[in-house]
Amino acid sequence: MSAESEVRRRIQERVRITFAAFMEIALYWPRGGYYTSREPIGAHGDYYTSPAVHPAFGALLAVQLYQMWQLLDRPAPFTILEPGAGSGLLCRDISSYAKKLPGDFAASLHYVCLDRRIAGPIESGLAKTSRVLADGVPFRGLQGCVLSNEYLDAFPVHQVVMTTDGLKEVYIGLEDGKLVELTGEPSDPRLAARFEGLGITLAQGQTAEVNLTLDRCYQDIAAAMDRGFVLSIDYGRTAQDLYDPERRFRGTLVTYQQHIQTDSPLTRIGSQDITAQVDFTSAAQAGEDARLDTLGLVTQREFLSNLNLDYWLQYLRDTSLLPRQMQANRAGILDLVRPEGLGDFKILAQGKNVGKPELWGLNQSTEATELVKSLPVPTLTDRHISLPDGRSSGSEVEFEAFWPLTDSETSEGPDGMPSR
Ligand SMILES: C[S@@+](CC[C@H](N)C(=O)[O-])C[C@H]1O[C@@H](n2cnc3c(N)ncnc32)[C@H](O)[C@@H]1O
Repeated sequence: MSAESEVRRRIQERVRITFAAFMEIALYWPRGGYYTSREPIGAHGDYYTSPAVHPAFGALLAVQLYQMWQLLDRPAPFTILEPGAGSGLLCRDISSYAKKLPGDFAASLHYVCLDRRIAGPIESGLAKTSRVLADGVPFRGLQGCVLSNEYLDAFPVHQVVMTTDGLKEVYIGLEDGKLVELTGEPSDPRLAARFEGLGITLAQGQTAEVNLTLDRCYQDIAAAMDRGFVLSIDYGRTAQDLYDPERRFRGTLVTYQQHIQTDSPLTRIGSQDITAQVDFTSAAQAGEDARLDTLGLVTQREFLSNLNLDYWLQYLRDTSLLPRQMQANRAGILDLVRPEGLGDFKILAQGKNVGKPELWGLNQSTEATELVKSLPVPTLTDRHISLPDGRSSGSEVEFEAFWPLTDSETSEGPDGMPSR
């Protein structure tokens, strides 16, 4: 039975289903759900994510993980648990760059790729790498870091709308054989409680998305870890910004197919991605409730800049790469920090039983700056997309205009949906 047939069957059985239940089937139904039937990421997919854009992303995360390993007194194993690891490309980039870092760091690593779908073999080159197929986080006693990239945005979300009658939920039903949106009383009291807890009242007519699985997600992560860090990288905003009626009156739910963004989730069921921006205020709160300390929230642009990405960009000018390779590498590195794109992604850092250390990615430090200067610049491989080939991403002139990061720039870019 296809994803759409399953949606229709459930509606016939129950009259209507929540948008979250619809999204769960559309994305993850074993036969023809979006994520179960394709590899969505890359030039030939529907969108791309930072690991596919340039290996500098994984390399600088390896540098950040190296500091965490030191802060934890160099445990072996130091476990990197990556939920939503997908194809394992980030695992490959982090693992191969870890070998360039000092001491026994690489030898101490145990990398665990966790996903609810199988997406090809992992090539980490590390002594200890595991792939785990699971929906939750079935671990205990870890020391290390739980690291995710675009994991939270792939969770089903509830949709709500504020009416003159109070907060209502969006359901999916059938009218004359067509799938339609309906509104009704909220299916779960936690929907209204989320907005009350945030101190936010939606405007009349405003639509918003709510991820109710955030609490369970951070509880699972906290329970998995004895001591260590959590880095959650995703596109999203603080709650005040995300639910701002002036800027996001219709919410942030979008669909992706072949790099084209639309907002029609009820069509092309199972062949397009459906996603919504992450509420990082609630993610941090879910962590605090699970006894994870919030260490900081920065943009990807700030994080990579604090880890001295700029030096690698400068250094690329002097390498012996062919002009075309040079251009592709520069375009990739710059795309990682592009305003209104990947550069506006957020990185939430949390810790368990680690105190409040100053992480290199959150604050500029001489130590990280000097270390990165001593390391080789990673360059594109055949597993990455080459931006000049893969899609048109704007001219060099445009890139030069926004990098390097200047003091006067704020962490928030102009409004708009970051490209994925
Ligand atoms: C947008 S993709 C990101 C893949 C990869 N992290 C990247 O950056 O390219 C989201 C991934 O999260 C996985 N995922 C979603 N919900 C999950 C869950 N509850 N447990 C484990 N994996 C999940 C999906 O199967 C998918 O591989």
